[in-house]
Amino acid sequence: MTVEVLTSKKGPTISKYIYGQFAEHLGRCIYEGVWVGKDSDIPNNEGIRLDVVEALKAIKVPVVRWPGGCFADEYHWKDGIGTPAERKTIVNTHWGGVVENNHFGTHEFFHLLDLLGAEAYVNGNVGSGTVQEMQEWVEYITFEGESPMSNLRKENGSESAWEMKFFGVGNESWGCGGNMRPEYYADLYRRYQTYVRNYTDKHVYKIACGPNIDDYNWMEQVMKIAAPFMDGISLHHYALTGEWEDKGPATNFPEAQWHSLIDSAKKMDELITKHSTIMDKYDPEKRVGLIVDEWGSWLAVENGTNPGFLYQQNTIRDAMVASVTLNIFHKHADRVQMANIAQMVNVLQAMLLTEGEKMIKTPTYHVFDLYTHHQDAELIDTYGETQESIDYTVSKKDGKVAISVCNYGLQGKETVSFNLPDYSFNSAEAWIVSANEMDAHNTFENPEVVSKKSFEDFKIDGSTVSLTLPAMSVTTLLIKEN
Ligand code: AHR
Repeated sequence: MTVEVLTSKKGPTISKYIYGQFAEHLGRCIYEGVWVGKDSDIPNNEGIRLDVVEALKAIKVPVVRWPGGCFADEYHWKDGIGTPAERKTIVNTHWGGVVENNHFGTHEFFHLLDLLGAEAYVNGNVGSGTVQEMQEWVEYITFEGESPMSNLRKENGSESAWEMKFFGVGNESWGCGGNMRPEYYADLYRRYQTYVRNYTDKHVYKIACGPNIDDYNWMEQVMKIAAPFMDGISLHHYALTGEWEDKGPATNFPEAQWHSLIDSAKKMDELITKHSTIMDKYDPEKRVGLIVDEWGSWLAVENGTNPGFLYQQNTIRDAMVASVTLNIFHKHADRVQMANIAQMVNVLQAMLLTEGEKMIKTPTYHVFDLYTHHQDAELIDTYGETQESIDYTVSKKDGKVAISVCNYGLQGKETVSFNLPDYSFNSAEAWIVSANEMDAHNTFENPEVVSKKSFEDFKIDGSTVSLTLPAMSVTTLLIKEN
């Protein structure tokens, strides 16, 4: 089967922000996963663990969303500034009822971003916070001049303001963020966002709370009432094996759940298409971005862990979920301006898992690694049929064409050919993430069971390159023009 690749046709840019991460004060994501404190034996920079920073830098994390999630609508940012020992201790009511000592706050978040070379997506509190509180946070973060909040930031050790690229006005306001109706939220959004000021010439990109999954009425109402006041609107969709109340296990699952999880992930395509059609009514120019700021597999927690911590293993099946979902985002590059996988470390479909001083990279991490070539690349149009289990993206950047192919079949190999008649090449290199078992995963004892390897099983014949792809694999082929 041959896919025709139209390299000479201009396509939209795949925003690098599609490769965004989400880091919430939930379970062991921030505490242990990112923050170990300055006095820890785990190598750290001002309290932030260095192994995690190095691993995330390698996959070019462009943006991190923080502090939630549901946590955001109960977070009062002033609790997390000043001398750490004097910060307020609160209860994280959403996530396990554990103590939150606020040692990781605004300054620590921006220090993490500095270490990663990533940009900020701060999520504000509409559910239980005031307009004044939100306005002051923006002032504290971004205002350089003389003002009460700017002076307070300086007193707390940061002379310079930070750049905050993205700001979310509430999270899941239809649920944990306040149980609102769309009309009510849309009016609140208009009010709160008024005070999210641009204190510099760098525009803060404002994101309204969008729908849960297929709540098309939410999208309709919020766009109708508030579209001119927003730059983006969010969408949340998690891949499940079945019913929400009965989540399947992350490992040792039946074959049916291999398929049901991938099918659930693939629903993202329909959701984006339908939500985008509604957005087109109010924003035909596609100025407003669809921001998928929570996505990924949501599976049963690991045995013996706190159910409120959402700690799950990550297998080659999750690698398939990552690959097909990223391909969907690419396909909708004209509307999807950012996405943030949930979550960065130790929670849901994480990049990294930690245990004390140990850290492992998950299969999902390796897919993000394979896909770095698509960040800010031009999406290349293609046509042609492929086998049922094949899903792919082709993009071009700096003269190089990257082809990423997922084979989510469970048995046998599939050969897929790509014909690039308008592109002159005679060599390529490729890497693969694959496994022999459908729940293959990395553990602290065996951290390299699933990893990125060099891939040689491809042939170039004139303008066609053919790849023979094993079952349960994700491959990226990088071709350089002659
Ligand atoms: O990612 C976990 C939770 O899922 C987030 O806090 C919330 O926004 C969503 O329901």
